[in-house]
Amino acid sequence: PTLHVVTPTYSRPVQKAELTRLANTFLHVPNLHWILVEDSPRRTPLVTRLLRETSQNYTHLNVETPRNYKLRGDTRDPRIPRGTMQRNLALRWLRETFSSNNRHSQPGIVYFADDDNTYSLELFEEMRSTRKVSVWPVAFVGGLRYESPKVNTLGKVYGWKTVFDPHRPFAIDMAGFAVNLHLILFKPQAYFKLRGVKGGYQESSLLRELVTLNDLEPKAANCTKVLVWHTRTEKPVLVNEGEKGFTDSNVEI
Ligand code: UGA
Ligand code: MN
Repeated sequence: PTLHVVTPTYSRPVQKAELTRLANTFLHVPNLHWILVEDSPRRTPLVTRLLRETSQNYTHLNVETPRNYKLRGDTRDPRIPRGTMQRNLALRWLRETFSSNNRHSQPGIVYFADDDNTYSLELFEEMRSTRKVSVWPVAFVGGLRYESPKVNTLGKVYGWKTVFDPHRPFAIDMAGFAVNLHLILFKPQAYFKLRGVKGGYQESSLLRELVTLNDLEPKAANCTKVLVWHTRTEKPVLVNEGEKGFTDSNVEI
């Protein structure tokens, strides 16, 4: 199958470094299709060039998260989930591109890969055999060394080894699961919810539309191995740039 890897991304000083690191990883993965979705009103020259220069199979999309979303939303939970509109656009693109006639001729797996995480090559081989939804541990989330699905001796997922809200329907980070493309096409109404989603419930909002706990396929040696790390890049200190900027702003970083 083709691995459709969906990455939301937004403009900031470290963006090019993040995307360069991802591209360098993805280039080692056979049959990978990178769907890069910019959180911006238009596709930017920086990302356009970066994609052209990597010999990668890619699709470049964009949708801007409205910055005033907060004001109109529920004031008790004003948080805009990061990357949600971008992932939803990718889901729509996949449905528009692969539905109907060619459904069965296009085996694929969909994975949501944020631009700041660290991905092992082994992870992509693990997710390739996903029939519905596969799951695995993710390091550095929820205040733990790693969070993991709980797997019984029969190889079934029966819960979540997390401290932060283990009663979520799917207490798993975005980086911890992959979905078969057929299931995405078969459930055309399934999207990430944008409104009224508490922190940590974004993943559940999509997964509950697609599967039940019983359907989950544990990977990474029955969830005993860590193959992805929820690393977060430190914001660089640029205080010496001053108000007007010290370095040449024409130099792309
Ligand atoms: C955690 C989860 O790992 C994310 O999958 C989830 O989207 C996020 O929380 C959330 O619930 O908001 P975290 O490291 O805190 O991740 O989030 P970021 O890495 O900052 O953002 C997730 C993705 O969205 C990244 O690929 C980032 O480039 C993108 N993003 C972030 C945007 O497209 N626009 C933004 O304004 C911010
Ligand atoms: Mn992140």
